[in-house]
Amino acid sequence: MQTILLNPVSDETAIDRAAALLRAGEVVGMPTETVYGLGANAFDTAAVAKIFAAKGRPQDNPLIVHIADPDALEQVSASIPESAKRLAEAFWPGPLTMVLPRADSIPDAVTAGLPTVGVRLPSHPIARALIRQAGVPVAAPSANRSGRPSTTTAAHVLEDMGGRIPAVLEGGPCQVGVESTIVSLAGERPRLLRPGGISLEQLRAVLGEVVLDRAVREQIGDDVQVSAPGMKYRHYAPNAPVTVVCGEPERTAVYIQKHLTNETGVLCFTEFAYLFEMHEMRTMGTALDPLTQARRIFDALRSFDETRVQEIYAQCPADDGIGLAVANRLKKAAGFQVVNVV
Ligand code: TXA
Ligand code: MG
Repeated sequence: MQTILLNPVSDETAIDRAAALLRAGEVVGMPTETVYGLGANAFDTAAVAKIFAAKGRPQDNPLIVHIADPDALEQVSASIPESAKRLAEAFWPGPLTMVLPRADSIPDAVTAGLPTVGVRLPSHPIARALIRQAGVPVAAPSANRSGRPSTTTAAHVLEDMGGRIPAVLEGGPCQVGVESTIVSLAGERPRLLRPGGISLEQLRAVLGEVVLDRAVREQIGDDVQVSAPGMKYRHYAPNAPVTVVCGEPERTAVYIQKHLTNETGVLCFTEFAYLFEMHEMRTMGTALDPLTQARRIFDALRSFDETRVQEIYAQCPADDGIGLAVANRLKKAAGFQVVNVV
């Protein structure tokens, strides 16, 4: 299969063509403000199966359903608690996924048989136009091959999905750069399952108490039941093993400097780049600029696969605000191989 790139800037039929593919039961790479997604009609079991095949994704890992307008929430969720209405009001459209009781119309293939469904209303105008044109909710995981770093440009999607899907819709580089925050509203108390573009602090400002799921900071063993099944897999990983170094940036830079070999790649804050100029080095913005760190993290991780590095050291961002999400993705990319420098 040849994968075509549909670009709405140069082709005014691009969104229509992508929507027609979705209606025909095909899978399309689509931009969102967080990361690119691999979309299919959420009501169509056969179309959803194609997503799992293209990604090589385990069947027990459910997909997020994307809608274009708040009213569509009723089509996908059986009941909408007050807390969901408040979160939607505050953060939609945007990088927030809510886990809610599922509607019967959502097939098991989407929810992996769970009684709940993850729902998100993205803010990217091309994503919303596409979903509206398709006329159905769109199930979409991140558009990387399973286990790889997520895709934040159309070129990344072509890298991972070229030949596996009919089309990718161009939407420019993703402005958030890490995936949506996932909060479950299906239990007794709101629970953060995955940190992302909306911070824990922002959620707490609206909801009061929000429980932080264990899987956000720790490695979860295979035998443990996790709330977001995706959190248990090795994920976001470049080919070379990653070590995340946490602590004061000045100290973590020195630590990495001491452990370097000729075959080490370094992912560092911009102000420390001069220390690593002789090495395969990528910067992720300054230590005080978490929004830039989030935008660059996946592209930086991916880019090491074009080099010969045998190991990668990464400075760990502070874990407040969106930094919690960036630190989480790095630690997962490292399989929780973390050094704490004191
Ligand atoms: O920003 C995003 O959320 C992106 C863009 C494309 O929207 N999508 C994304 O999807 O990150 P994916 O499939 O890579 O990650 C979805 C995560 C997985 O960890 C999955 O286990 C969890 O959401 N999830 C989905 N439905 C769930 C549910 N009903 N209950 C708990 N976790 C769920
Ligand atoms: Mg993903």
